[in-house]
Amino acid sequence: MLTTDKLTIRFGGHVAVNSVSCAFAPGTLTAIVGPNGAGKTTYFNLISGQLKASEGRVHLGGRELTHLAPSARTHAGLGRAFQLTNLFPHLSVRENMRLAVQATLPGPHRRGLNLWSIWSDHREISERADAVLRQVALHERAEHAVASLPHGDQRKLEVGLLMALQPQVYMFDEPTAGMSHDEAPVILDLIRELKKDKSKIILLVEHKMDVVRELADRIIVLTNGTLVADGSPEEVIASPVVQQAYLGMAPKDAGGSTAISPDHGLAPTGAEGEQP
Ligand SMILES: Nc1ncnc2c1ncn2[C@@H]1O[C@H](COP(=O)(O)OP(=O)(O)O)[C@@H](O)[C@H]1O
Ligand SMILES: [Mg+2]
Repeated sequence: MLTTDKLTIRFGGHVAVNSVSCAFAPGTLTAIVGPNGAGKTTYFNLISGQLKASEGRVHLGGRELTHLAPSARTHAGLGRAFQLTNLFPHLSVRENMRLAVQATLPGPHRRGLNLWSIWSDHREISERADAVLRQVALHERAEHAVASLPHGDQRKLEVGLLMALQPQVYMFDEPTAGMSHDEAPVILDLIRELKKDKSKIILLVEHKMDVVRELADRIIVLTNGTLVADGSPEEVIASPVVQQAYLGMAPKDAGGSTAISPDHGLAPTGAEGEQP
């Protein structure tokens, strides 16, 4: 179980995440929705440790993570998608993936340094790296430098690197933002596949409501940093707070996904970062 207990952060006078208490169970995919600037990404950053909470606590499996650095939280099983700034842009896709896989293995100091273990690690790392690259449909790009990848492939690589870590908690922050309509299904299929593993906790920030409706077991709604709705997709989509956001407007994006108008709350796909 992943829990946040009265998790809060203030930037100056602005409370970006306001006393959010929530528990996320294994085997559950929770969609986090809310207007642009509602605090969804900040909530993720507080869970993963990129930001330090002003107040409140984070626990995973009974262990308190609140005061741990991001790397220690990753080690504890929290998987936050890499940002490309964390990668080695001039190394190949395969080399970056190998580094991610390698990070999951115990170091030689714990395994005993000998040629056999180095050789078998090397083979295991290569095989696992290539398996993940096939899963994210990047196998044919394995030799390309990360810096040369088109945007959609970079997003696939971010998800692949996360999968390579085999975390207990997967946090996806708009994983298909900016992807073409050919590419987005690759990522959504991967999330669908991950969902089958009932030991995983999956958190997904996503604006496309048809995607949310299909994938989510539960939806929570953040507005102005506050948790305002929490329940099954049917309940939450029917709730006054979400209905109000939809009222009168259910614009279709190019892919036919329903997104809530930015004027009414949720922004359409790709509008992340555009503050009202
Ligand atoms: N590092 C920061 N410093 C100051 N304000 C921030 C910082 N990060 C986020 N904010 C503010 O917190 C609020 C929530 O932002 P964010 O979590 O990115 O929203 P969302 O992901 O829901 O669109 C916004 O008002 C944003 O400007
Ligand atoms: Mg965001």
